[in-house]
Amino acid sequence: MVVLMKSGKVRPLWSVPVVLFACSLSFISGFFFASMFFVPDSSDRGAHLLRLTEVTLDHLPALPHGITGEPRPSAIPSQILSWKPLALYFPNFATAEQCEAIIKIAKLSLQPSTLALREGETTESTKGIRTSSGTFISASEDLTGTLDQIEQKIAKVTAIPREHGEAFNILRYEIGQRYASHYDALSPAEYGPQKSQRVASFLLYLSDVEEGGETMFPFENGLNMDGGYDYAKCIGMKVKPRQGDGLLFYSLFTNLTIDPTSLHGSCPVIKGEKWVATKWIRDQIQD
Ligand SMILES: *[C@@H]1O[C@H](CO)[C@@H](O)[C@H](O)[C@H]1NC(C)=O
Repeated sequence: MVVLMKSGKVRPLWSVPVVLFACSLSFISGFFFASMFFVPDSSDRGAHLLRLTEVTLDHLPALPHGITGEPRPSAIPSQILSWKPLALYFPNFATAEQCEAIIKIAKLSLQPSTLALREGETTESTKGIRTSSGTFISASEDLTGTLDQIEQKIAKVTAIPREHGEAFNILRYEIGQRYASHYDALSPAEYGPQKSQRVASFLLYLSDVEEGGETMFPFENGLNMDGGYDYAKCIGMKVKPRQGDGLLFYSLFTNLTIDPTSLHGSCPVIKGEKWVATKWIRDQIQD
């Protein structure tokens, strides 16, 4: 997938093929492998450290692979939570140690979270929409190597090269804190012209939350879309955070228009604290 530019430079052409490939690969691997493995129920939290995160499939033949490929087949268990929006869940994506390591680094630079502002909006006018604290950390800044491992694994399950990801946005929500429903994709009509667009979002839950703090999709399967939805209201498909689990959802259809059902938010934390690492994945390589 390369196009020869007029200048003679070769550059990858991602947009459409990336989305199509990413979708099909994630689906195939999810469907195929999820049925092959028993993933232990995590009701026994003590067993958390031992939970399965990736399986090597030694009984399947390893094919000769390209220079950038992998030596053998492997599987990362997944479940499709919804087709509208397209949302996949990855139980045991990271270990408890990895999650704790990320929280530790994030605590050093936590700041009140900000918003991408629409034309005419100000920090004051959008107060209360996003009340968490957060920090941006790129994989290369994490000297423990944890974010590097996670980023590689995200690239693998999305089948989108890691260079397409923004830095990790690591967030902490304390009691009462939330993020009202919003889109991760930035519509040019509202935000002005964009250099690149967010295709998908990957959330890694770094902590359990005792009560509240779910990721909500109020428009799942086209529900609540009659115009009367209050964006602060926690309704629709709700995903309860579990330490180490991952949630991937796509903001764009394969034709690159924004999926209106990808609207989502974070319900207020009622009890406990919520930590999450977010990676926004774009259609263009990020500098
Ligand atoms: C893009 O795809 C979606 C989902 O299949 C469809 O509903 C929408 O009409 C398409 N939009 C355009 C402009 O083709």
